[in-house]
Parts: sequence; C-alpha cells; structure tokens
Amino acid sequence: MTYEVTAATREYLLRRHGLFIDGEWRRPQEEGELPVEDPATEQVISQMALGGKADIDAAVASARAALKGPWGSMTADERGRVLLKYADLIESRSQLFTELAVLDNGMPYVLGESTGMFCSMFLRYYAGWTSKISGMTLPSSGGGRRPQDLLAYTLREPIGVVGAITPWNYPFGMEILKIAPVLASGCTLVMKPAEQAPLAALLLAELAHEAGVPRGVFNVVTGLGETAGAALAAHSGVDKIAFTGSTEVGRLIVQAAAGNLKKVSLELGGKSPVVVFPDADLSKAIPGAAMAGFMLQGQNCVCGSRVFVHESIADAFTTGLAAAAKAMVVGPGFDRSAMLGPVISKVQRDRIERLLATAEKEGARRLCGGGRPHDRGWFIEPTVYADCTPDMTIVREEIFGPVIAVQTFNDHDLERIAEQANDTVYGLSGSIWTRDLETAHRMVRLIDAGQVGVNCHAAMDPSMPFGGNKQSGWGREFGQEGLDLYLKTKAVTVTW
Ligand code: NAI
Ligand code: MG
Repeated sequence: MTYEVTAATREYLLRRHGLFIDGEWRRPQEEGELPVEDPATEQVISQMALGGKADIDAAVASARAALKGPWGSMTADERGRVLLKYADLIESRSQLFTELAVLDNGMPYVLGESTGMFCSMFLRYYAGWTSKISGMTLPSSGGGRRPQDLLAYTLREPIGVVGAITPWNYPFGMEILKIAPVLASGCTLVMKPAEQAPLAALLLAELAHEAGVPRGVFNVVTGLGETAGAALAAHSGVDKIAFTGSTEVGRLIVQAAAGNLKKVSLELGGKSPVVVFPDADLSKAIPGAAMAGFMLQGQNCVCGSRVFVHESIADAFTTGLAAAAKAMVVGPGFDRSAMLGPVISKVQRDRIERLLATAEKEGARRLCGGGRPHDRGWFIEPTVYADCTPDMTIVREEIFGPVIAVQTFNDHDLERIAEQANDTVYGLSGSIWTRDLETAHRMVRLIDAGQVGVNCHAAMDPSMPFGGNKQSGWGREFGQEGLDLYLKTKAVTVTW
C-alpha cells in the first residue's frame, strides 16, 4: 500500500475476516475467500469470506431465535440507548471509518470523512424513534357495541427477520440506512453487503455488539450476489427484504420473494433530470449540475445524469459545465486535492467506456473528459456530452459513471418540459434551477420522482423520505416512512 494509514486501519485490513453470525466470527461452511481490492491502486488490501446458502441458513436461524431473546423484551428506552451508544462508538472510530471507506470504495477523502458522521447522525435520529412507535385507539363499534363495552386499538410490531442486501457505492452509509431503522423497530437482521466493498458491514456489526446489541440480532454474511444474496432473498425464514442496487437485480429479488410472499422494499437505479431555466443563477446551477453528475464519480442512484437547459443559455451553461469538469482533480482519495476518485472496478470502468464509445457513435458531442487520467486504478475523467437526444443510449441507460448528457429545450410550457424530464423508466430524483417561485413550485409537482430539489440536487437528511417512483423502486427509506418499512400493524378489539 502506498498510503500511510493509521495502525487501527492496518490492523483491520490484515484480519482474516469471517462471517458474523450469532454474535461470533465464523468461517464459511463451504469455505472460500475473495480478495478485496483498492480501486485506486488495483492492489489487494484485504480479503473477505465467501459465505453461501448454508451460512445464510445459519444466520437466518440465529436472527429468528434472537426475536424471542432479550432483544424482544427490551423497552423502547433501552433500545434507544443501545443505538445512542452505537453512534458514540462510531464517532470514536471516525478515522478508521474514513480510511476504510476511501480504501474499499475509492471515494475522495472528504466523502470518506462524511461516512462516520452520517452513520452516527442516522443512528441518533432513529434512536429517537424507538420511544415514538405507537398505534392508535380507534372508534370501532365492533358489530354494534356501545363505546363503554369495547376497546379497539392498533399495535405496531416489528415485522420480524429482515434480510438486507446492500451495494458498494457508499460503504457504511448504505448499510446504516438499513441497520438503524431495523434496530429501532425491534427487528433482527441478516445483511449481505456488496462483494466489491464488504468491510464496512463487518465493522458495523462488531460495533453494534460492542454497543449492546444481543447476539443474533445483527448478522453479516459476505459473499456473492448470485449465491449468498439469492439465498437470502428466497429464504422462507425471512419476513422482509430491503434491497439497494440495480433495477435488474431488483426484479430478481421480487421473484425470489414470491415463495413466502415476504415484504420487499427496493431502492434501484435512476436517470435523474437537472432542469436549468433561463433565469437560473448560473454561478450556482453550473457547480450544482457538476456535483449532481459527478459526485462519487456518478456512482450514485440520484446522479443528475440528464441535464436539460434552455436554448438561450445553453452555450454559457455547457461551456461553464465543461470548465467545471476539467477543473475537477481526479485521483486517489488519499490525495487530499482529489475531488473525484476511481470507479469501483475494472468491470464498471470497461462498461462505462463502452457506453462512451456508443455515445460518440450515436452522435453525441463530447465537450470534455472521456479519457483515463492515470495508468493505474479505475479512473475516468468527468465527461460532458452536448447535442444529446432522447433516444441515445447515454440518455436512456443508467451509466453509474461520471458522465453528463446535456439536452436543450426551447419551450416555455412547463408541462412539455416536464414530459422531456420524465421521459425515462426511472423516477428517483431531480432538480430545478430557477429564481422564479411559480416555475419552481409548478415544476416540483410535474416531476415524476421521489425527490425533487429546487436550486439544489439530492439533498439528504435522516428525516427526509427517500425512494423512487416507477422502476426506481418500492417504498421510502429515511424518516418515519423508513421505520414503517420494518413495522406491521395489528388491529385489536377487546370486549367484555
Ligand atoms: P447489483 O444490483 O448486482 O448489486 C447490488 C447488491 O445485490 C450486491 O450486494 C450484490 O451482491 C447483490 N446481488 C447481485 N445479484 C443478486 C441476486 N441475484 N440476488 C440477490 N442479490 C444479488 O449491482 P452491481 O452489479 O454492483 O452494479 C451494476 C449496476 O447496478 C450499476 O452500474 C448501477 O447502474 C446499478 N447500481 C445501482 C445502485 C443504487 O444505488 N441504486 C447501487 C449499485 C449498483
Ligand atoms: Mg451485479
């Protein structure tokens, strides 16, 4: 390794990581390991255990048993305290979180630093919810009974064993946004993290137990999607699957869930529009669009990959956007000047390069980027295409790379502009850039997405529901709705 990481990180990487099942480290039953790679250097930095179906069975059995154990009888206050302590432990390991996120995912250092903060903030938010989970008293007449002869109410109960399958694009963050509400609700968890960035989930499980989460409540089985992931999705002992990843695998999850009709929530792909009106403040809209498209190298589901700009300002806007892209330093996350890191793997780099070649064949005009800025690591320069049309592959497909496709509009009819913006199978996020209140508020209603920003793109907060319309997913994570994903309602009628 060419970077000086702290001793704690070195020690963590050198461990022979196992599976975390029933509160202890175990070797996979069908043995096997995979190397963990740093995408900035292509070097092996650690290894992960390859868990399979038998390990998923063991983890699910442990999670089922734990529903009945001390976890099931904890008071709301006790559960809240465990989550608060968990948040404190994460805060005390912030340097380890930063370095592991940079190494495992390749993200820039400042984003690495955000991971620990995000986790503690998320846990504290849901710690507050533990004491606010409640049903209602209802005015049932229960077949003609008088109010004094009947009591009708609802209970909100944990849904049971949750299977969580997470992606690699924001290690720690992607895991905690499932862990926090699952634990707050009183459910138990079997997590299958992405094989490209498996280290975060293991550390999070270890710290949860240090914070007082009883054994079996939070299990981690690392392994491949097609084996461990598929086994979890199909398992009859799992009551609910929470998945974040590709729309393609989302469909497989739904099919696998059909066996026992487990509940499913899905956070899938996106192709989010960034709509820039002629009255927009370009000094904000240009850097805003650049960040929307290039943050995490475009490897995020809310990526603003389709920009729509009014013809009258298109030249000024695209010139500015290309200049902003060229000014972004691309390099390893430990190089503090780097604003963009590598993409996650050779597979993804090659896939993105194929999409760039297709863009040129289909007639998009490249304004900047497209090259490999370093000979080692999976780096791609941030790329802007102008003269894009609705049928082009780069306009239709989620790229998950640093690529922005710019289209123009010459319309003042907001409905027609929105039709262009909504011309996608996805509906996750979107942003509108204007100084006009009427344009802003009317457009907010016309954009078909789970999240819309006005003069900002994809602002996130634990309290703000997050999820997609159309093929971007089912359900909302974050906020109260994120807790509801893990609760079920029981209607109770008492007569005497
Ligand atoms: P993926 O959807 O294959 O992987 C996400 C998770 O699903 C991983 O943990 C993986 O092991 C698991 N998985 C894979 N196949 C499975 C199966 N048959 N059953 C159960 N679990 C399974 O995504 P991948 O291959 O990493 O990336 C491909 C594309 O997916 C990206 O280019 C991007 O377009 C999209 N993607 C979207 C994400 C989002 O945040 N919405 C995150 C990651 C990828
Ligand atoms: Mg895949």
